[in-house]
Amino acid sequence: MKLIDKYNRTHNYLRLSVSDKCNLHCLYCNPVSSELNLSKDSLTNQEIIRLTRLFIKQFEFSKIRLTGGEPFARKNIIELFEGLSVQKNEYQFELAVTTNGTLLNGKLKKLKELGLDRFNFSLDSLKHQIYSQITGKNELSKVLQTIDEAESEGFQNTKINTVIIRRVNDDEISDFIEYSIRTSRNIRFIEYMPFSNNGYDKDGFISSKELINTISQSYKLLPFESNSMNVAKDYCIIDTKAKISFISPISDHFCELCNRLRITSDGKLKLCLFSPHKTEIDLLKLIRDGYTDEQIADSISKALLEKDYAHPEIEELIQLKNNNIISLGG
Ligand code: 5AD
Repeated sequence: MKLIDKYNRTHNYLRLSVSDKCNLHCLYCNPVSSELNLSKDSLTNQEIIRLTRLFIKQFEFSKIRLTGGEPFARKNIIELFEGLSVQKNEYQFELAVTTNGTLLNGKLKKLKELGLDRFNFSLDSLKHQIYSQITGKNELSKVLQTIDEAESEGFQNTKINTVIIRRVNDDEISDFIEYSIRTSRNIRFIEYMPFSNNGYDKDGFISSKELINTISQSYKLLPFESNSMNVAKDYCIIDTKAKISFISPISDHFCELCNRLRITSDGKLKLCLFSPHKTEIDLLKLIRDGYTDEQIADSISKALLEKDYAHPEIEELIQLKNNNIISLGG
């Protein structure tokens, strides 16, 4: 049975946060100053496996992305991939992970063997000093090397998530373009979003439109039609292998295309990144209270009917309390 909401959107993409901890302190996500109440009860590997099976089998989900926090900050993450690998032998779905790339040492080969399909790496600066300033750690060399190694291990279609913030890293836009030209890797510029813990600097916001204008002064961007369910606007640069995408959750939200559900690391089902007060189901509690798969599936189907058509505009988002991407899953 497909999961279809009241706006006729089929949901088939699960973003699952496997850790609300991160070893980095990116200023827009998990700043040192943010005092979050983390490390509550979290889903065990077995519980995660059970939930993914339920989404894939009962609801025909075709894509699972592990997020965090930092997924590889989870202690038994390889065992989790082993469990998912068994499911991959049984069902067809895409398994992807979003990571900062700092904790992957020695794990890439194993991850490839276990059927991980794709990586999205978070990378907001190509300059050591700025990288350290944004993340709080001097890990740029390691991350760049890890991205190269991932490709050598056979991981394809690697994407790089980059958040450009005015007066922080907006002088690196062309460096990222050159990186994409050099490596053919897809750079995805994500608009800087407000969360309750990130001390949002409204003046730091740069819209995708402004970025496109800036880039167009030096490069010939050519839009190309990709997968229609893609939330990114994709461009190539003429006569190069670069692929540059723009994700505009703020200036041009893609809610009408939303096909996602999220599960937080403590097992709450989230209908939207920006709906902290909407009905949320405590899946962890249902599991530990002995609910059957059918009962859990039934609760999920009912909850989906509560999903709004779109998330609020930025002014309202800024006011939201208890909304931080590190707990919700990026
Ligand atoms: N604005 C935009 N993107 C963000 N991410 C985390 N916090 C923010 C924010 N405030 C992105 C990171 C990461 C992904 C999981 O979420 O770039 O790649």
